[in-house]
Amino acid sequence: MNAKHITSNELRELYQKFFESKGHTRIPSAPLVPENDPSVLFTTAGMHPLVPYLKGQPHPAGKRLTDVQKCLRTTDIEEVGDTTHATVFEMLGNWSLGDYFKKDAITWSYEFLTGKEWLGLDVKRLAVSVFAGDDDSPRDEESASVWKSLGISEDRIAYLGKEDNWWPAGGKQPGPQGPDTEMFYWVGEDEAPQVFEPSNKKWVEIWNDVFMQFDRKADGSYEELPQQNVDTGMGLERTVMVLNGLTSIYDIDSFTLLMKHVDAYTKTSNERARRMLADHIKAATFVLGDNQPVVPDTKDQGYVLRRLIRRAVLALRELGVTENASEVLSAGAAIIISEYGAAYPSLQQHATHISEQLKKEIDKFDTALDRALREFDRIARSKSSGNTIASVDVFRLYEAYGLPVEITQELAQKAGLTLDLTGFKEALSAHQAKSRTAAAGKFKGGLADHSEKSVHYHTATHLLHQALRTVLGDHVLQRGSNITPERLRFDFSHPNKMTPDQIKAVEDLVNQKIQEKMLVTREEMTVEEAKKRGALGLFEHKYGDKVSVYTMGDFSCEICGGPHVANTGELGMFRIKKEESASAGIRRIKAILG
Ligand code: ALA
Repeated sequence: MNAKHITSNELRELYQKFFESKGHTRIPSAPLVPENDPSVLFTTAGMHPLVPYLKGQPHPAGKRLTDVQKCLRTTDIEEVGDTTHATVFEMLGNWSLGDYFKKDAITWSYEFLTGKEWLGLDVKRLAVSVFAGDDDSPRDEESASVWKSLGISEDRIAYLGKEDNWWPAGGKQPGPQGPDTEMFYWVGEDEAPQVFEPSNKKWVEIWNDVFMQFDRKADGSYEELPQQNVDTGMGLERTVMVLNGLTSIYDIDSFTLLMKHVDAYTKTSNERARRMLADHIKAATFVLGDNQPVVPDTKDQGYVLRRLIRRAVLALRELGVTENASEVLSAGAAIIISEYGAAYPSLQQHATHISEQLKKEIDKFDTALDRALREFDRIARSKSSGNTIASVDVFRLYEAYGLPVEITQELAQKAGLTLDLTGFKEALSAHQAKSRTAAAGKFKGGLADHSEKSVHYHTATHLLHQALRTVLGDHVLQRGSNITPERLRFDFSHPNKMTPDQIKAVEDLVNQKIQEKMLVTREEMTVEEAKKRGALGLFEHKYGDKVSVYTMGDFSCEICGGPHVANTGELGMFRIKKEESASAGIRRIKAILG
């Protein structure tokens, strides 16, 4: 029934080869942690790192690009454990930056899906959805008519609204966007039904072609972008799954060794916990081993990482393993590093960091769990009447001590007690409603922030990077950067705390370079030329053939996607507010422009 048995590595290669044959240039995956975009914690789609180019800045590799982008989404974390959701996944993409549009994009998608020398999928098992139109935007008749001209029958075309056929979904956020058309494959054993019903779970979405031609402004109006773009995303894991006639992404080749490892350690069968454990080990390894490595923390990316590691430990407990979590997770991480190291070299570079941080975080969690267990004993002992633990206590164990309710339930059972679960669930939904509002800003599937203030901070970051190297020495290199319209945060390699004199010298040097009103220029060149020029860059991450290099006077020269101000004189007064340790051997500076 299925056309081809194909591995993940083969699909990565075949996809990019196909689009190379259509004049596209391969570009490497961007990091999982966006380099200069505070609006999202992680790259959640291939378009993120390309926003400046969707808005019209010329891309050094041209107008037709193809890539495989590593992505991380936590919005669906509760779904992880089913057959198709994962927090970390790979997205195959082809891009038109003001070049081809709907007709070519759809025709090539169809050719790649059904062509005998490509995926060779059975047309009888294909269906598509297109944008139905609404008060703001017209129905996408053009995409529907291209599909029909290729032989997709009207019955197999569903017309849906902005929640389904618009990217970013819903169309409520500012930034580049437009209608999309999604491709589905029937995974049932039986013949595919004549009429396509998207709600039937046997239709699995595998690919999305987005036609970005609008820029949504903060006031909700749509403006035409200077160019018409195509952004596509094919889910690598799901496509390998359907091609091999499998029904779960956790059964594909790149998960085989990890699942065997998980099964070798675990004592009870629980499919959901088993997949969750595998997914979270993989995701934590990717985050720890990103180009700019993250450490577990109480906020931002570090907090997501902490949750992933702790949820993995809890999944392991659900599977009957209460000891040696560190060993199980580290060995799992080693499997991921060997499985994905060739496609994502930063994993290999940070192998030591990955295992050290896993161990450290798991030790910390063990201590927290001990505290929670002691608190449970106290509550259980202090019960003078009745045998029900009150909802406030269950909630406190959950919220303040991090004890999942399943574990509280288990402990209660052993102690001959029950829980007030109804009260607990009420307290939990009230709490979740609150944190959803707080998290909405952070997790929106969003777009790069190119506000004027952020651009200023971005330029100031380059000046700071060079000033640190001048004052402290050439061992200083960028290890992380995060910019909001209010401040910059910069992590760099340096073994010691900076002295007040050093901080002052760096601050003065940056301000001197601002006052010198240096010109900022951008040039495109090969990586070799950039190296020869002495440009700074994260050379351990794979760049494309051509890169953008930003030069500021004769002071700073860095590989970077931009954008930047035209003249450093625009920046205002630079002040370092804080210098602290970020992790071993890495210092962190927070600075503002006044
Ligand atoms: N950006 C589109 C998606 O993520 C392709 O589905």
